[in-house]
Amino acid sequence: MVKNSLQFTVFFLIVAFTVAFVHKENRLAPYQSDATSQLPKTVEEALLSVGDKKPIHYIAKFDADSARMGEEIVKFGNLLDGSNKRVSKYFVCTDCHNLQLESADPADESPEAVLEYSKKNEIPFLPASTFYSMYNKRHWYNDDYYKKYGDLVKPTRDTLANAIQLCATQCAQGRAMEPWEIRTILHYYKSLELKISDLKFEQNELDKLGNLIVNNKLEAIKLIKSKYNETNRAHFGTNAPPNVPGYVASADNGKYIFNFGCLHCHDPETGITNFTLTDSELSLSFLYRKRNAYNNYAVTHITRYGTYAMSGRKQYMPMYSFEKLSEKQMLDLLEYIKVGSGH
Ligand code: HEC
Ligand code: HEC
Repeated sequence: MVKNSLQFTVFFLIVAFTVAFVHKENRLAPYQSDATSQLPKTVEEALLSVGDKKPIHYIAKFDADSARMGEEIVKFGNLLDGSNKRVSKYFVCTDCHNLQLESADPADESPEAVLEYSKKNEIPFLPASTFYSMYNKRHWYNDDYYKKYGDLVKPTRDTLANAIQLCATQCAQGRAMEPWEIRTILHYYKSLELKISDLKFEQNELDKLGNLIVNNKLEAIKLIKSKYNETNRAHFGTNAPPNVPGYVASADNGKYIFNFGCLHCHDPETGITNFTLTDSELSLSFLYRKRNAYNNYAVTHITRYGTYAMSGRKQYMPMYSFEKLSEKQMLDLLEYIKVGSGH
């Protein structure tokens, strides 16, 4: 009897543990994956679902036709059916802005992360910010752009439509855009908005997010916003030679910056500027020898200041801020120009 009841107890305990364990597994597993699979697709949807404020440029109903028109204006300067005039005689938006993510993790848009990702994916290395995720930013022409455009940046600081207009007339040296044209570009930006799947979450963070969306909306907003940037920062350099103690410059990085940055506009094939350069000893030694008025490398000068549009010579070169080209990368570029010119 005693033996039997002991056996029974052991048996009972095993069953109880098994049931408890399996039960727990069953309860948790589907719950977790539900929470994850029920996450909204876009970052905006996710934020609005937990009560974040709508942006000024909020688009209640996305229109694919408008987005296509916006895409045509961005890539070609006007609609392909010829029904509107070119925004700028000198540039199209994609001369200076990319249309795809520029780094593996949208939370890290440092020039180093951008260069690494660009090299892997052969993306142009440009002075202006990508249009992918522009919809998700909240402030534009930030920081030192005030120094370049003065009070013109004020209306752009919180209004994307005004930033587009400022860029069309100032950066692209074109005409003012009509409100309907700006709307098409906003719809195009909407199609390039951040998706939840673009953000780099650990699996446990995704599970946590699923729970926070139900239980703690403020924390959910915080978690989502920690995974990307709401502004493109911009700080300007000078023509002073870069000084990064201990840094060993990489001619390989420099070659990429030259070919996918400088030559994006200066390659005679792209026809963007009349001032042409090629990846040749001739061009590189021209740049190597070129000095500016302060007898510094012209390359540092031109890259940090760009040039200014003048009447009669509207095409100008945009500057690379520190956020678009770091001091280390400047050293890489100078190293490549030196090596490539036979010095
Ligand atoms: C000649 C180069 C050039 C062209 C062409 C150009 N842009 Fe820009 N754009 C810039 C630069 C430089 C900035 C400021 C830096 C940045 O993008 O973060 C800028 C900024 C912007 C911004 C604000 C970005 C931010 O985060 O502050 C928007 C929006 C924009 N441009 C839209 C456009 C549109 C739309 C077009 C085409 C109609 C266009 N741009 C054409 C160079 C250019
Ligand atoms: C977004 C387009 C663009 C990019 C990128 C670009 N440039 Fe330029 N650059 C221009 C334009 C436009 C001019 C003015 C051409 C003119 O005056 O006709 C110019 C002018 C120049 C000049 C001549 C300046 C002078 O003294 O008149 C040099 C040198 C130069 N760029 C070097 C570079 C280098 C080096 C890089 C890469 C770090 C670079 N550019 C990237 C568009 C660009």
